[in-house]
Amino acid sequence: MSQKSAEQSKFKQSLGLFDATAISVGAIIGAGIFVVTGIAAGSAGSALIVSMLIAAVIALFTALSFAELTSWLPIEGSVYEYTCMLISPFAGFLVGWMWMLSNTFAGAAVSLGFAYYLTAIFTFLNANLVAVVLCIAFTALNYLGIRQSALFNNFLVIAKLLILTFFIFLGMFFINSANFAPFTPFGAGVLYGAYYIFFAYGGFARVAVIAEEVKDARRNVPKAILLSLVISTIVYILVGTVAVGLVGAQRLSSSNSPLTEAINITGNSPAIYVVAAGGLLATASVLLTSILGVSRMAYAMAKRKDIPQVFSKLHPQYNTPYYSVWIIGALMTLLVLFVDLTHVVAISTFALIFYYALANASALRLKVQKRLYPCIVPVLGIITCIALLAFILFASPQALIIGVAGLIAGTVYYAAKASLK
Ligand code: ALA
Repeated sequence: MSQKSAEQSKFKQSLGLFDATAISVGAIIGAGIFVVTGIAAGSAGSALIVSMLIAAVIALFTALSFAELTSWLPIEGSVYEYTCMLISPFAGFLVGWMWMLSNTFAGAAVSLGFAYYLTAIFTFLNANLVAVVLCIAFTALNYLGIRQSALFNNFLVIAKLLILTFFIFLGMFFINSANFAPFTPFGAGVLYGAYYIFFAYGGFARVAVIAEEVKDARRNVPKAILLSLVISTIVYILVGTVAVGLVGAQRLSSSNSPLTEAINITGNSPAIYVVAAGGLLATASVLLTSILGVSRMAYAMAKRKDIPQVFSKLHPQYNTPYYSVWIIGALMTLLVLFVDLTHVVAISTFALIFYYALANASALRLKVQKRLYPCIVPVLGIITCIALLAFILFASPQALIIGVAGLIAGTVYYAAKASLK
């Protein structure tokens, strides 16, 4: 494929640095901090923030690799295109495949997260049914072509950040230092916790997928990726510290809506509704972009003839890849009915780490005169991603089996397609 610069792109470049950063923050902050915090606290105990820091450092290496790649060539399709160009079309196919797998499971996870926060307030509702209704409603929105405009996304991001800031400031006055004991930062549980909470960091490269719609993309996209990761990390560490300080890791892990569980201890009932609203907003916004993102990736892969052409068929009236949208929506709906949250998170994270490793490998193979970062950065990115993948063996062997099955299914499909040519 010939290199094309963002300047020659067919897309309108309408997004500035603020919008670009907000797109990634919008994709990052969702069920991870609002729900998976509880699962991670179950493994890491009161050393939850150590898990958060480990996950942040691993995410940082990969984010630097994404920054390197996007400053070289800001291109729609991002890691799928980079891997096709810099490694091989087969590796690129697997990246796209695992990208779709990761984001389909992430969509199911945020739907369940939304349902848990809603049922924390309306206790008579059934969480799985709420998640089903949400999946169908948001699939319909994507079918009709309702995209989050940059303005609406900025609003959602500011609202999420304000609510989490409120949580931090109110909660810090009620911290009980006894909740941090025993503090065991060197136990294996901290590593399993890092595996789970890594889910919360996924999404920092979302802006790279729409790089050609960003002004001065070579500068702004890498900056947006790194800024969004730094902002989310700071918020996560503060929220994680306050949450553990409020009720302790054990109570966090026993709740499906750990942040409302934590703020409950303040005795301030309006605060519970505010935090629950934050959970609903955050998970709903991530869900909207998940369905949008997976359908776009399916569209891009179908265009390259990597998957059946039907996935790139556009609706005559709404101009959306409607087969992709409905197939993905149907899969997410089945997942929220039959798979529990811990498993969907573990499988999504497995697929996420797989394609992050290949993003690092692509950055390593990049031959440019002047690199932004030395080659040691993608090397560390690959090593840390592989190390994190190893924790899944202990954290969730079932997720490992399903993740590997997904990879094998992709490989078999690719081989069958090649043999039919
Ligand atoms: N990072 C996203 C979330 O936490 C997937 O919801």
